[in-house]
Amino acid sequence: MNIFKKNAIEKVNMTNMELSLLASGDGTEVIHHKLHPGARLAMIPEEGWTAMEHMYILSGQLIYQSPKGEVLLEQGDSFFASPIQEHVIFIAKTEVQLLYVTSQPQFHAYSNSVRNMMDLAVSVEQKDGYTADHCNRIKELSMMVGEVMGLSPDELYILNLAAFLHDIGKIKVPNEILNKPAGLTDDEYEIMKQHTTWGRETLTATEIVDLVKAGEIVEQHHERFDGKGYPNQLKGEEIRIEAAIITVVDAFDAMTSDRVYRKGMEKDIALNEIMKNKGTMFHPLVVDAFFSIKDQIH
Ligand SMILES: [Fe+2]
Ligand SMILES: [Fe+2]
Repeated sequence: MNIFKKNAIEKVNMTNMELSLLASGDGTEVIHHKLHPGARLAMIPEEGWTAMEHMYILSGQLIYQSPKGEVLLEQGDSFFASPIQEHVIFIAKTEVQLLYVTSQPQFHAYSNSVRNMMDLAVSVEQKDGYTADHCNRIKELSMMVGEVMGLSPDELYILNLAAFLHDIGKIKVPNEILNKPAGLTDDEYEIMKQHTTWGRETLTATEIVDLVKAGEIVEQHHERFDGKGYPNQLKGEEIRIEAAIITVVDAFDAMTSDRVYRKGMEKDIALNEIMKNKGTMFHPLVVDAFFSIKDQIH
């Protein structure tokens, strides 16, 4: 027997709701939902969907939008479908807490989003000519620099996600452009530059709070300290420090990695390049922090 005192097996924070898995077994899940006002829950019948779905309102007011009109659900009301046969949408009028029981597990689809994004990021870097450990190296080095710079554990966690996922937006850059070793036309370069904003959009669309936060950093990883970067020409302290860290680490790794079309540069030459661009391309304090850990880089 398991007793959980206000503790769930697993939790996922979404931008508009918090989900806690209270129990799962034998194909059934019991999930506690806390919906913020305005949040929508959609149930959509799919081919082969045979699930029993049951929802019990614990508190708050939830509007049930059925094809026949609106119904207000309150504490003690429930909704049951087995299986669901038409599109059903619920909208939280106030903060709503409810218990959701389903015979077709879906909680892990939510909590797997982070892993799915990471798999996607690795496949993008490979498409871009890197070996599989590029994402991991960027993550490790960013964390080391972040620690030296005194980031909090929460900030380090988001930095870790953002670093791993920095180039995820390249999923939308056509292969012909991504694999061109040099000499992009102006138009092609404009498309390439959009991977920053596309990355933020991809992560925001997951509605997972931590990924949304990482997305804000991802969008800034090609900004420059002197304001000549992209996509928004931010400069100096306008750029998030987490993004400034990823910029330095990514530049270093890009220079020293062997790519499909060329061999990587020596570590010392790459370090020289970083130092030469301190204060123009790169945040000076980040460069200093990076140099303080340089002997730990292999
Ligand atoms: Fe990038
Ligand atoms: Fe990269």
